[in-house]
Amino acid sequence: MTDIYSERVLVLDFGSQYAQLIARRVREQNVYCEIVRHDITAERIRELAPQGIILSGGPSSVYEPDAPKCDPAIFDLDIPILGICYGMQLMCERFGGNVRNASAREYGHAHIRISDPTDLLAGLPDETDVWMSHGDQVEQISGLFRPLASTRTCPVAAMRHVDRKQFGIQFHPEVTHTPLGSQILRNFVISICGCEGTWKLGDFARETIVRIREEVGDARVICGLSGGVDSSVVAALLYRAIGDQLSCILVDNGLLRKDEEAAVIAEFSSHFKTDLHVVNARERFLEKLKGVSDPQEKRKRIGYEFIECFKEEATKIKDAKFLAQGTLYPDVIESGAAVDGPAAVIKLHHNVGGLPAELGFDLVEPLRDLFKDEVRKLGIELGLPEDIVWRHPFPGPGLAVRCLGEVSEDKLAVLREADAIVVNEIKSAGLYRSTSQCFAVLLPVQSVGVMGDARTYDNAVCVRCVDTDDFMTATWSDLPYEVLARISTRIINEVKGVNRVCYDISTKPPATIEWE
Ligand code: XMP
Repeated sequence: MTDIYSERVLVLDFGSQYAQLIARRVREQNVYCEIVRHDITAERIRELAPQGIILSGGPSSVYEPDAPKCDPAIFDLDIPILGICYGMQLMCERFGGNVRNASAREYGHAHIRISDPTDLLAGLPDETDVWMSHGDQVEQISGLFRPLASTRTCPVAAMRHVDRKQFGIQFHPEVTHTPLGSQILRNFVISICGCEGTWKLGDFARETIVRIREEVGDARVICGLSGGVDSSVVAALLYRAIGDQLSCILVDNGLLRKDEEAAVIAEFSSHFKTDLHVVNARERFLEKLKGVSDPQEKRKRIGYEFIECFKEEATKIKDAKFLAQGTLYPDVIESGAAVDGPAAVIKLHHNVGGLPAELGFDLVEPLRDLFKDEVRKLGIELGLPEDIVWRHPFPGPGLAVRCLGEVSEDKLAVLREADAIVVNEIKSAGLYRSTSQCFAVLLPVQSVGVMGDARTYDNAVCVRCVDTDDFMTATWSDLPYEVLARISTRIINEVKGVNRVCYDISTKPPATIEWE
């Protein structure tokens, strides 16, 4: 079996909003890519022995006194380097060039003319569109570098060292606004760094299964199922690795989407045949939510109750030693837990549903090295149905934060039906994959309507559908009117108690994706 980690590229993170995206794009070339802190020593890099190094972009200016720098010795390691934007400026500054704030700066879309279509820019046309996002640019390069491309206002949009494999580009190849960006990254990783592409998810599954077996031996492992893709993939992977040593727990809190727990129960009791414990805690959760309308208080109570339910069920499972969790690579990076990774990112975290260390289990986290899109591909490799693999993310507190104000079973029933229509119509229109999240929100208002000759005074539902890459910012989806019309007509006709439907056209920020 080939070692999937045998080839690797390191991204030195200078605070770029795109560092994770660079790593994902490199992995699309089947090369393992890790994000490390910008000041990692050349010595440590030598130990890690990567095939290539990418210096990320970043918001700073290289000429500022506190600008983040890298260990200058990395330029003498004889490992190919690609500097992107700030990374290029750093490289240029290091070798005696000049970086300045560009007066006629190009921000956003730009058009490059390629003067040297070899190595890094091989296979590209003479001219192509790129994406720029920095106020500074390289004004002058030292004699050690030569330009490869320019734009109308940027004389050195790409450059290379005259005799080392060191390259710089002022634009961002990792974003989709640079349409040929993946060709540039492929040129770097495959042609310049000489990688063959050992990072394959089928092999990842095989290697991880072997590793899990070694790690857990003949002990029992508990895995919490939530209905989401991450926990389903963890469970499927563990089932392949240890079969009936796996016990799954699904806490049915009554706050999941329509038919969601049924789909997961069907999958993990028939297809994967795991020891599945479904905890029916619907009434328990409703009881705890009685009289509570503050969103954070709802979250707190749901999180607490979830842990209690999970703990009670887990203690019934004899000889359990491990707890499997669906921690992903971005969680590891952003929490500052990666060995060579950057410091923790301060991020507003809602998640109160995590399981505390006090449960006393050793953790198994087989997805720690993966991005979400890789988890989905792995799910498909493991035979999970598309319906689970492509499911939109769903908040831990579930429908409770979409049923504004106090939650009741009656309100949840209305919301569940309306939500199912939204999802169903988005799927029928072929828009489920291109949108990031779509759902219904039950508003705490009634409005007047007419039904036949009678006056009604019924609930209003708001439809929310967003596009986003990272869920930190989002735009509302530009849904076709006929899809919106179908959603509205169906909800009003089919869901008893709703006489009005609105569409949420707020971006994040300043609005959030959820309403609570
Ligand atoms: P917001 O509403 O902050 O949501 O724009 C960003 C993303 O986070 C999800 N979300 C949650 N996830 N527990 C979770 O596990 C929560 O309490 C929670 N609140 C929001 C939201 O669905 C979106 O994907």
